[in-house]
Amino acid sequence: MARSSTKKFHEKSRDERLKAVKSFARLSNKDIEILKSSGGISFAEANHMVENVIGTLSFPLGIATNFRINGKDYLIPMVIEESSVIAAASKAAKIARKHGGFVMESDESYSIGQIQLVDVDVRSAIPKITKASKKILSLANSKSKTLSRMNKGAKKITCKKLETKSGTMLIVEILVDVGDAMGANVTNTMCEGVAPLIEEITGGRAILKILSNYSTKRLVRGRAVFDKEEVGGTHVVNNIIHAYHFAANDPYRAVTHNKGVMNGIIAVANSTGQDTRAIEAAAHAFASKDKRYTSLTRWKKDKQGNLVGDIEVPMPVGIVGGIVNVHPMIKVCTKILGTNSAKELGCVIGAVGLAQNFSAIRALASEGIQKGHMKLHAKNIAASAGVPKNKIHEIVSRMVKENNVSVTRAREILKEL
Ligand code: MEV
Repeated sequence: MARSSTKKFHEKSRDERLKAVKSFARLSNKDIEILKSSGGISFAEANHMVENVIGTLSFPLGIATNFRINGKDYLIPMVIEESSVIAAASKAAKIARKHGGFVMESDESYSIGQIQLVDVDVRSAIPKITKASKKILSLANSKSKTLSRMNKGAKKITCKKLETKSGTMLIVEILVDVGDAMGANVTNTMCEGVAPLIEEITGGRAILKILSNYSTKRLVRGRAVFDKEEVGGTHVVNNIIHAYHFAANDPYRAVTHNKGVMNGIIAVANSTGQDTRAIEAAAHAFASKDKRYTSLTRWKKDKQGNLVGDIEVPMPVGIVGGIVNVHPMIKVCTKILGTNSAKELGCVIGAVGLAQNFSAIRALASEGIQKGHMKLHAKNIAASAGVPKNKIHEIVSRMVKENNVSVTRAREILKEL
């Protein structure tokens, strides 16, 4: 099995990086051509996806290295505009490797569809729905031959009563095993498909028929051990645990802490064509599940004093449907990642979220984030100012020391040298 810990990946040229990725993921020459194009879709393709199109907009695509998740090595494509994020994920993954990498698991991919019934006698409606649940499920499943063929699809119907300012409502929920799809479309189709039958059975009036993005039936969870010496020693480990308890107890800090988690999650979600809004919405609701917004990760020490992190987060992702099988760049990213199921993809995304959070709080709990951030930023600036490889280090050090990082300053120093 190829290893994801490619030596000094960040120091390689673009062609060298592509060569390493090509050999790791067995990409074709065509895949490399797509990676070298800038964005992957034409105006015509974009015009078919959304409305009123006038162009397309591209973002940087980088590769996080060193990841080992459930014993398998991954090179992870990340699409993000923020510097440091990809380097931070790679660094965290490198430290986690020492103790075996990330151990992750995923629930089955159940989505929840909701049908809102009003003008209904809730007391008599609930037993009627329960009695007819087989018929309702079978109607729902007739809406997706694909899921039914795979023995997936609508599995369970539940009811809940809501007291609201506009009166008592009955919310009928359908649990749908969406397999390897994100599943929003099929869930919505099923909800709309069964609503007339539910109206007929209950005498109520169905208004909304839509999936819930609060994806509590498709969570991923997992952990990693970060060696205390590599983290920076016991003092830094202790500081990180203090930082975690700050986030666990203060929503103002927890939102920022979770923003760091989402830096990782969304960057991988972007590269694999996921509905990032669905992931974000579910993650933040889940962070409030105990009635107070808190951290999506937890940190503690093991008996040897190593740092142990764990994460649990909803993961409504898919490897089929939507843009995933259409967008050429996303198809290549999926190939690089080499995930064979939505559950595996969810595990990878969750692991990157945990890695990202580790790096952010490690930096914050030791030297602060600006130092590393500025250094990387200065490197990018120096490169874009045309500084040759052998002068980058010196020019970056001087710009950071002077606290003056700009293309102009990089060029000035280069002239002096
Ligand atoms: C910046 O994008 C993310 C951090 O603010 C996260 C955190 O504070 O934990 C560094």
